[in-house]
Amino acid sequence: MNLANARIFLGVCGGIAAYKVAALTSTLVQRGATIDVVMTAEAERFVTPLTFSSLTAREVYTSLWDAPERIPHIRLIRDADVALVAPATANVIAKLANGIADDLLTSALLAARIPIVIAPAMNDAMYEHPATQANLATLRARGCELVDPERGFLAEREIGIGRLAAEERILETLERVLARRRSLSGKRVAITAGPTREPFDPVRFISNASTGATGIALAREAMLRGADVTLMLGPTLLEAPAGVRVVPISSAQELYDAAMTWTTGVDLTIATAAVADWRPEAYADEKVPKQGEELATRLVRTPDVLAALGQRDNAGFLVGFAAETEDHEAHARAKLRAKRLDAIAVNDVRDGRGFGTGENTLVLLWGENGRRELGTGEKSALAASLLDAVEELMRCS
Ligand code: CTP
Repeated sequence: MNLANARIFLGVCGGIAAYKVAALTSTLVQRGATIDVVMTAEAERFVTPLTFSSLTAREVYTSLWDAPERIPHIRLIRDADVALVAPATANVIAKLANGIADDLLTSALLAARIPIVIAPAMNDAMYEHPATQANLATLRARGCELVDPERGFLAEREIGIGRLAAEERILETLERVLARRRSLSGKRVAITAGPTREPFDPVRFISNASTGATGIALAREAMLRGADVTLMLGPTLLEAPAGVRVVPISSAQELYDAAMTWTTGVDLTIATAAVADWRPEAYADEKVPKQGEELATRLVRTPDVLAALGQRDNAGFLVGFAAETEDHEAHARAKLRAKRLDAIAVNDVRDGRGFGTGENTLVLLWGENGRRELGTGEKSALAASLLDAVEELMRCS
């Protein structure tokens, strides 16, 4: 999909850069995009709805209450391929980060199951404030694409960071997001994620430091590309994305049982779960009291979920993850062969890297010597590069 056949939901907020977004709208119209503009009340102080309705030749929406139907926000966002918020003010960014929906724009964006591109523009002190930066980090972690503002002449007649990004940068981002849009439409994707817990008694268990962030980012990205996604998710404090089917699991055995059901006949399975390899052999029904100086317990192996899927051979294109601390690629290639995978993403977890952090470094390996570096970055950005690479391999296989 490209700009010429895209339907864009454009949210305009109250900042002086709103006039630049009028020019951007004209460019988008000339490129063939269909644009539904929603303006906040503050935006109307800078430019008028007439500006945008003249440019788009379509109705412009400003209130939850002035459209002929009762819930215009749901229809508008559902029909679009991408949402662009420009200029995004500190206030609207804060509302989005916190789920506040007190006008048409923020209500529509809260209901969005499409990619959201945010182009902030504001005073430099407001942009640099830790609250704004924390809100932007929250949105980025949830998979929003940010087009960072630039340094330059601000409305306060000073030089600083906060100017709306140049039109070409916003267009490039929209094109990149649209190129992936619907690329997995009609496909079924299953993802395992998070740690497992292997209980010892009702309050104690063996587990690991995985947060499930990688699998959650992949599930969101696959959903945004149009896939029907099932996320088998171990215990985590992170929120699962809206719009994906979440199957909560706790132990390796529960993950195994869920995977046998939910991967059957899918097009793509990605195993990111950090499955505990061992579980206490005995489970005490009551909390084990503290007695003596030592306690011995035998550990036994848990099922290898991914290897079982490789054997079964009906979980679609099968991608594993390898968390390694040494000799990464050789170990990962051995897992690729042993578990009969189509590809494996190698992840360096030395010195606490990878687990529980927002960032990661990934290399994708396949076949005899297929190899692609996916780079280092935010897990949400890496999820997009990983799916790009996997989709390419799926097309060739
Ligand atoms: N995996 C799994 N079930 C297990 C163990 C691992 O499904 N019981 C999957 C993981 O989700 C991952 C891949 O297998 O996609 C490799 O996991 P990793 O922990 O790196 O490898 P192990 O097979 O556990 O080998 P080792 O711990 O010896 O490195």
